[in-house]
Amino acid sequence: MRSFHIVTFGCQMNQHDSDRLRDVLIEAGYEPTDGPESADLVLLNTCSVREKSEQKLRSEVGRLGLIKRARPSLIIAVAGCVAQQEGQRLVKKMPQIDIVIGPDQAAALPRLLAEVEQGGLPQVRTSFDVGDPRFLSSGLGAGRTRISDFVTVMKGCDERCTFCVVPTTRGPERYRPSDEIILEVARLVERGTPEVTLLGQTVDSYLDPLHKLERPPASTTLRSATSALAVRGSAGRRDESEFPGLLRAIAARVPALGRLRYTSPHPRHLTAALIDAHRELPVLAKHVHMPVQCGSDRVLKRMLRRYNVAEYIERVSALARAVPGLTLSTDIIVGFPGETAEDFAGTLDLVRAVGFVGVYGFKYSPRPFTPALKLGDDVTEEEKSERLARLFEVSEGLLRQHLLSLVGSSQRVLVEGPGQLGGYTGRTDQNEIVHFDATGDPTGQFLLIDIVRAHKHSLSGVPSSNGWLASGPSKRLERVAASRGPRSLPLVS
Ligand code: 5AD
Repeated sequence: MRSFHIVTFGCQMNQHDSDRLRDVLIEAGYEPTDGPESADLVLLNTCSVREKSEQKLRSEVGRLGLIKRARPSLIIAVAGCVAQQEGQRLVKKMPQIDIVIGPDQAAALPRLLAEVEQGGLPQVRTSFDVGDPRFLSSGLGAGRTRISDFVTVMKGCDERCTFCVVPTTRGPERYRPSDEIILEVARLVERGTPEVTLLGQTVDSYLDPLHKLERPPASTTLRSATSALAVRGSAGRRDESEFPGLLRAIAARVPALGRLRYTSPHPRHLTAALIDAHRELPVLAKHVHMPVQCGSDRVLKRMLRRYNVAEYIERVSALARAVPGLTLSTDIIVGFPGETAEDFAGTLDLVRAVGFVGVYGFKYSPRPFTPALKLGDDVTEEEKSERLARLFEVSEGLLRQHLLSLVGSSQRVLVEGPGQLGGYTGRTDQNEIVHFDATGDPTGQFLLIDIVRAHKHSLSGVPSSNGWLASGPSKRLERVAASRGPRSLPLVS
């Protein structure tokens, strides 16, 4: 049997793509192997959102080239965003590469492999499936049950953030039919997966191509703290998506789902309807990752983010009011072209004002084909490093404060498995990591944990005397929830 090894760079989206490529290869009769040395095929799944991705790829291909020199039958394939972006150019620049395959072409991989195995020329497939988008399902065929799994709801991006390469590498927005999404969530849950994360580049822009989801009543979009934004959205921008309807449909049709997350949303779709969904659906995690990118209106405008600082704060505050205890994390770019010390001070103010418990900070890096290229790259590397360090200092302080505030509380924890230092680890509804000892193997269960200590990035505790909350998709939990109202799970004793 021919064997393969996949190397993944980048984000969860890429990891998910690698998993789908893995499924396709297994289906085609290949078997996974641990390293490149023994593999017949090595697939590099690349990311070009940040960093010197092509350089990284070049050094990987160089290393593999040495193996290939000794064993010419080794097939080197490049997938992901660099593949999409560079296409045929990659084969010219690195002749060791046999296959270049874009993110929409996973299903074509076996055919391309057959061509190459029969001595054909290098194969390049990078077209987008715009007319007839395909979404590969989570490894249902492979029979692996995970504690937490991803389900793709949309791909591509219609935003035009000036720093971002994604519209080039992932193409325009395409949405998966709601029935397919719900069915996949249901199947995963049936197989024992307690937690699902909905995945998409701007996941909350979702629109159902089947038009089967309930749209929020017009009154909802005009109500509450976000009303002004919702009205403006309906006039000029299409802020109101069908994502809240999708969340409601999943909650209604897969009642056994233990916990539902999503990533990554765009703040402009955080409308009253989405906030209402968070208020009303106990299955939604009490944590949202909401990329803000910057805390200066001037820079946000140059980034073409389509909101200002006040609007962002208004929206996340409305969300936090709707769901007590909800935590927020974010992405921030430091050193965007023209970012002054004052702009950056605005970012620190914003981070403190929102009280993010997690900040993913990045130094701006110019990406090919992006509009920001023409703005130059005028913040020095030293200045970027310094700003990033200060950002982390502030965010670490906020995290520490937050973790300390949880000592003495009881948290519902989904157990992910044995910890590296013994015992078990899991995550709370707000996404904090919790370490604890337990008898038996509670992996995949929801446990109530009394928090006794805060560490730098995590918590530790002991199973509460209230004990087990029952396994993942919990009937008992639902009963408890129903008897005490939607937001009064026995989380804090
Ligand atoms: N430079 C630095 N960071 C970037 N990101 C996207 N493009 C760039 C870039 N050119 C960051 C954003 C985004 C995250 C996935 O990566 O913060 O939210």
